[in-house]
Amino acid sequence: MKNILLFADPGIDDSVAIMYALLNPDINVLGIVSSYGNVEKNQATDNIAYLLKLAGRTDIPIIGGSNSPSSGKIPTYYPEIHGKEGLGPIRPPENFSGELTNFSKLYTIIKENKDVTIVDVGRNTSLAALYILGENIANDVKEFYIMGGAFFVPGNVTPSAEANFYGDPIASELVVKNLDNLYIAPLNVTNKAIVTLEHIQTIQEMNGNPLVQILDDVMTYYIDAYKKLIPGINGAPLHDVVTLSLMVNPEMGKTIRRDVEVLTTGLGQGTSIADFRVSSKPAEKNINIYLEIDYQMFVKDFIEVMTRKR
Ligand code: BDR
Ligand code: CA
Repeated sequence: MKNILLFADPGIDDSVAIMYALLNPDINVLGIVSSYGNVEKNQATDNIAYLLKLAGRTDIPIIGGSNSPSSGKIPTYYPEIHGKEGLGPIRPPENFSGELTNFSKLYTIIKENKDVTIVDVGRNTSLAALYILGENIANDVKEFYIMGGAFFVPGNVTPSAEANFYGDPIASELVVKNLDNLYIAPLNVTNKAIVTLEHIQTIQEMNGNPLVQILDDVMTYYIDAYKKLIPGINGAPLHDVVTLSLMVNPEMGKTIRRDVEVLTTGLGQGTSIADFRVSSKPAEKNINIYLEIDYQMFVKDFIEVMTRKR
């Protein structure tokens, strides 16, 4: 069982990742950190609160993360992929709003639970802040999983940059340089985690859980958005879900231990670089980049977890 703190910016794939985490018996969600990213932080907070309500898990604290990137610039949002409010056509009910717990709660949770894993599937600003403000946080947390970067494949927001690293490259560079026991799920594997409407139908036929009932609308929106971007695609990649799935199913992916650099300025902003030459050396720290994924195993795991009634 993994005790996790989930840093998210829901966003459609973040929302499905939250559902997946709540339904997975191998994951215990200790708290969810809400930050800007796919949408504004306030909207992300309301979306998280709504999902927790549907799941009957309002006991899980929502912790207030960052409003904007380290550069101080106004963030770019992506309504064309996630919808204006982040859940495609779905909106939390009118007058519904999520309540935030103070950022310092993170330190309490980490101290009280000896074996916390942090999973960051958004911009890395809040995680970098946790490191900067905390003493020894890199040692107190058991391991870190982040969705970000792109190796051997084009980026998804610039020719070479992936959205999470591009959104706050200063934070991402700090994270990859200072954290240990770090697992990175980049676009080269997350792009492969395609979920189709047939998969969603299978899930909904088997599970009447209110949490899963909104999946069809949300995923139809997300898949349509991807179809406009990538002609011929039959579904859409659940980047943030596969990051969690790799965490609980280590045999599903193959990693390589390498140092990573994130470019922080200029045309290459957010680009991730690692040395994969035959002559290159493994990272001194335990930094692991996913290079391969077993797609069939992912789909099987996704459907199994999402059809649970937990
Ligand atoms: C990542 O960026 C966000 O838009 C998604 O939620 C995911 O975390 C993919 O590049
Ligand atoms: Ca995300």
